[in-house]
Amino acid sequence: MSATRVCALSELAQDEPLRVEVDGKPIALVRDSNDEVHAIGDTCTHGDISLSEGFVEGDTLECWAHGSAFSLRTGKPLNLPAYEPVPVYAVQIDGDDVLIDINVKKED
Ligand code: FES
Repeated sequence: MSATRVCALSELAQDEPLRVEVDGKPIALVRDSNDEVHAIGDTCTHGDISLSEGFVEGDTLECWAHGSAFSLRTGKPLNLPAYEPVPVYAVQIDGDDVLIDINVKKED
């Protein structure tokens, strides 16, 4: 499987998550304050909430509903109530294109 283009890098504002879908899987895309782009599963593991509606804080994305912050690097929640990780996907940047291969999960 090859990577899928999900958006242009220029569409991604720093610390403003963007919800994209690849093969029906919702993904939260985040360009952090170091200009690094991360892709994690968009659905909070505590409830059916879109993490891309939450807040970026350093290299975490916080669910607005009950405050669990998920690491953008490992997908692990750093605090309760969520305790299951979300998947983390490998991101490729090709010029101004942001690509994700949902078959490649990143492990830290
Ligand atoms: S739904 Fe995300 S922390 Fe509860």
